[in-house]
Amino acid sequence: MLKIEKLHKSYKKNSALDGFSCELGRGIYGLLGPNGSGKTTMMRCICGLISCNSGSIECGGDEIGYLPQQFGMMKALTLYEMMEYFATLKRIPKTEQGEEIERCLELVNLSDKAKSRVGSLSGGMVRRSGIAQAILGDPSIILFDEPTAGLDPEERMRFKSLLKKIRDGKTIIVSTHIVSDVEAVCDSIIIIDRGRNIFTGSNGEVAELARGKAYLIEEGQESRLIGNYYIKDRISRDGKSYLYVLSDSPVHGAARAEAEGGIEDGYLCALKNI
Ligand SMILES: Nc1ncnc2c1ncn2[C@@H]1O[C@H](COP(=O)(O)OP(=O)(O)O)[C@@H](O)[C@H]1O
Ligand SMILES: [Mg+2]
Repeated sequence: MLKIEKLHKSYKKNSALDGFSCELGRGIYGLLGPNGSGKTTMMRCICGLISCNSGSIECGGDEIGYLPQQFGMMKALTLYEMMEYFATLKRIPKTEQGEEIERCLELVNLSDKAKSRVGSLSGGMVRRSGIAQAILGDPSIILFDEPTAGLDPEERMRFKSLLKKIRDGKTIIVSTHIVSDVEAVCDSIIIIDRGRNIFTGSNGEVAELARGKAYLIEEGQESRLIGNYYIKDRISRDGKSYLYVLSDSPVHGAARAEAEGGIEDGYLCALKNI
């Protein structure tokens, strides 16, 4: 449905995408990567907002819906007027606009705000209005760029259930740097780092990357660490301080921790080359 091959995009000397490739079918994909890894640039390239230097994107003529990372505009319009504006841009016939706008506002739980000015909405509501315009017209490819940034825990939950409601027959990409955003809701995870796709797999496959690599060592014993390692956390147990370490080499004399961190540990192992 969406095939991206060897995408390169640089800003002057800075390479934002460095040969990014992936092939997406139907389902929800989590595009997981640290800040600056190229997530926004990739989504902009897919939408055609910016052009890439080389590479190809095929979407089979499917319509694309897009929630930009920074969404907030038309503050003087009412929410309904803003939706009408997007509906017109999307060439939704006038006679069908009302019903479609109501459907989308209902999905993001903003029906009662239709007559409110966009400028008077809270940050979370503005983001939800951005989600509403992205799904307007029922596009079969939807790109959400950091959709949960600025949402409170309840709104995050609501976003996850919204994804489940709209997912049928669609290709949905949710970009984030927060692992818990992609857990339990995404079918596949694409890990992006420095403009490259460094791993694609299911939640379980990502977690598997950390299997047998998590150790607990007493604080002060760092000299035991060799090879590639990453100190993820400090924890205390029975009055002692421990470091939770991901390491690609066995840590002599250290207890191997159960892979408590799951997907997050796997993600860190992929990023830190552990
Ligand atoms: N308009 C721009 N001009 C110059 N550099 C940019 C621009 N947009 C992004 N970059 C750079 O490209 C890299 C990837 O950025 P971005 O795609 O925004 O990453 P992410 O969304 O994963 O945080 C970063 O190093 C960023 O500084
Ligand atoms: Mg971004």
